[in-house]
Amino acid sequence: MADMATKRIRTAVFPVAGLGTRFLPATKSTPKELLPVLDTPLIQFAIDEARAAGIDRMVFVSHPDKGSIEDYVRHDPELCAHLRAAGKHDFADKLDTLSLDEGDRAHFVMQTERLGLGHAVLQARPYVQEEAFAVILPDDLILGEKGCIGEMIEAHARCGGHLVATMEVDADRISKYGVLVPRGGQGERLTHATGMVEKPKASEAPSNLGVVGRYVLDSAIFDQLAVQQSGHGNEIQLTDAIAATTGAVGLAGYRFSGIRFDCGSQEGMLQATLHVANMRGLMAERRTPALALVG
Ligand code: G1P
Repeated sequence: MADMATKRIRTAVFPVAGLGTRFLPATKSTPKELLPVLDTPLIQFAIDEARAAGIDRMVFVSHPDKGSIEDYVRHDPELCAHLRAAGKHDFADKLDTLSLDEGDRAHFVMQTERLGLGHAVLQARPYVQEEAFAVILPDDLILGEKGCIGEMIEAHARCGGHLVATMEVDADRISKYGVLVPRGGQGERLTHATGMVEKPKASEAPSNLGVVGRYVLDSAIFDQLAVQQSGHGNEIQLTDAIAATTGAVGLAGYRFSGIRFDCGSQEGMLQATLHVANMRGLMAERRTPALALVG
């Protein structure tokens, strides 16, 4: 574990194969990860967060029906040349900066059967190899001064093992989350744990610490995922594999500093949009009646 802790985290896994049913009909032909908060698709926020943390190998676990994610992520030299020829250098520069090229080592692997988050992460194994890695769920948007995965990687260098992002969740919503089983008291940011439970009933929740979509995982998770039985919702759960390997590698929750938006829900997407609009000063002048209503 100490050895793992001294190595830098180079790889992030982005599970993006999900159906996005809560945003139908929009997600009938547009993957939910490409839905924008104003002008920026959710997947772009996730990529930017990984890059800011020094990650340069990105593994997207996608689905054959969601080819437009790869189209979005990859550099498009023809479009950029077209924009430059039209004198639109600002847009071309922006796309050049945002897109992933070969230097970033972006890999796409298909999860043809949607068997759960744990199954999705297992598909990334050939690209991760035997080292600790990050997992970022793009529909959990976390905004703040420090990128969430970056601050977790800093903490992981000290504690090793599995590290999961946590936040306090009210009892009436706790059954929507993986929940940490704390060991002893909570530190300022770190809470050491003996395991995790996926979406427990409120009455059976081991704590109020819900896990959100950022993980730094020891590679021991892969051997476990390969044999992990289906759990909650009849899916192969990442939570169960984390719990099963906690004894061997250790587990802690990390209370991150940013604000998290559940962009898998319409309410969360709306809140994220208002937050970003506010940050960009778009709401200051209450320019339109609609903005005045929400401002
Ligand atoms: C997944 C995880 C769950 C976690 C949640 C955070 O659930 O399985 O442990 O709390 O993400 O967003 P999902 O919301 O994909 O059902």
